Amino acid sequence: MRFVYQSALAVAYLCVAAAAAICNGKIKPKVMIITFFNSEGEIYLTKSNTTGALDFRAKQHRVPYASPEFPYLHCTADADACLMTTGEAEIQATATTMALLADPALDLRETYWVLTGIGGGAPDQVTLGAVTLARFTVQVGMSYEMDAREAPPAFNTGYVPQGTESPGAVWGSVYNSEVFEVNGALRDTLTAMVDPARVADSAAAAAYRANYAEVPAFAPGAAPPAVHHCDSVTSDTWFTGAMLAETHKRRVDLWTNGTGTYCTTAQEDGAVLGALVRGALESRVDFERVAIVRTVSDFDRPYPGQSVMDNLINGTVGYPIAIENVWVAGESIARGIIGAWNETFKSGVPAQNYVGDVWGVLGGAPDFGPGRVSGGEPVVLPGAKAQQQMVKSAKHRTRRSRFQK
Ligand SMILES: *[C@@H]1O[C@H](CO)[C@@H](O)[C@H](O)[C@H]1NC(C)=O
Ligand SMILES: *[C@@H]1O[C@H](CO)[C@@H](O)[C@H](O)[C@H]1NC(C)=O
Ligand SMILES: *[C@@H]1O[C@H](CO)[C@@H](O)[C@H](O)[C@H]1NC(C)=O
Ligand SMILES: *[C@@H]1O[C@H](CO)[C@@H](O)[C@H](O)[C@H]1NC(C)=O
Repeated sequence: MRFVYQSALAVAYLCVAAAAAICNGKIKPKVMIITFFNSEGEIYLTKSNTTGALDFRAKQHRVPYASPEFPYLHCTADADACLMTTGEAEIQATATTMALLADPALDLRETYWVLTGIGGGAPDQVTLGAVTLARFTVQVGMSYEMDAREAPPAFNTGYVPQGTESPGAVWGSVYNSEVFEVNGALRDTLTAMVDPARVADSAAAAAYRANYAEVPAFAPGAAPPAVHHCDSVTSDTWFTGAMLAETHKRRVDLWTNGTGTYCTTAQEDGAVLGALVRGALESRVDFERVAIVRTVSDFDRPYPGQSVMDNLINGTVGYPIAIENVWVAGESIARGIIGAWNETFKSGVPAQNYVGDVWGVLGGAPDFGPGRVSGGEPVVLPGAKAQQQMVKSAKHRTRRSRFQK
């Protein structure tokens, strides 16, 4: 059972002695590690005693409205790095991120948000244990869905973009959570902090991935784990099998205007980013300071001759190394950001690409989607603080992308 009542009761909503600094002033993390369920968060705590590693056990702070399963923010003694676990899937991920944004004890204006979790992997891009850093996350579950057995004969899937009449249509009705794009320059800088030699592998993973070797397109799936640039999908439904994987890969292509690369499946990334866009509109966070890291615990489809159920049930041999690599990647990135704070990260890594949502509410010109709502300027909400810096960088991005075309 993952639900631990005792820890909540034992520490209650009180400042423990060790957390005095946290109670008396704002917690102002340079890095906020976001994880989604118990094992992803606990690896940071159990590895905290590793020589040279960030110790996330030093302080804890109870976040109002956080998941009852994960009520605490865990931080290093100086609170430079903090760790939160949201609870799984979209509702919990959004609710916990909003809880962080709403917590008056936190100053998040300069914080880097590093999402680190495990996910399924596409064998034409990645293998078990792989570390991926994304530029896009695509909410593939946002769809009309009919059971494929009842779909028109011409349809190759039961998923159809909402507001359209064909699986191959691009945009119909837009809810504005379908796609989020994050800072590519930041991603590149953070990638350099992850030492490929430290990416964990295992004999069990090696034996399992060898089954993919006979398909030439799955060569990346049969190779040892590495560090990759490719994109995540967000869906509450844990889908599996080649047909749904191909359907969602096509959706990533369509919704990122051909610039995204489908490689990992998970249930939260877009949900966190949707809340962070709102935080940016209120000047609570800087949306240029967001990174999406996913490590691969299992394949999104079976190997030749294997059943979908066999891969789903028996294919999680990559789970231990994926959890280990969540920490390998996330802790390295956190240390890297803190270590180069003054010279690089305090002032920010300017985005060269569009960052934000489908509608462009943070300003700039989306390089995907049906068009921005605000003419390249950020939306200014009634009564919200003017966002001088964001307006400036949004203009910069708009100008850049016009020159690039
Ligand atoms: C670190 O903690 C883990 C679990 O709490 C323990 O098994 C391990 O021996 C500890 N390692 C060191 C170096 O203290
Ligand atoms: C999982 O593997 C075991 C052992 O090989 C096998 O008996 C079982 O049928 C597999 N499960 C599925 C759903 O294929
Ligand atoms: C970074 O800048 C702060 C404020 O100027 C200073 O106190 C601190 O010592 C600097 N840190 C490093 C590692 O240079
Ligand atoms: C999508 O890509 C096409 C072809 O490269 C390009 O003409 C179009 O402007 C792009 N759309 C957006 C919104 O950038």
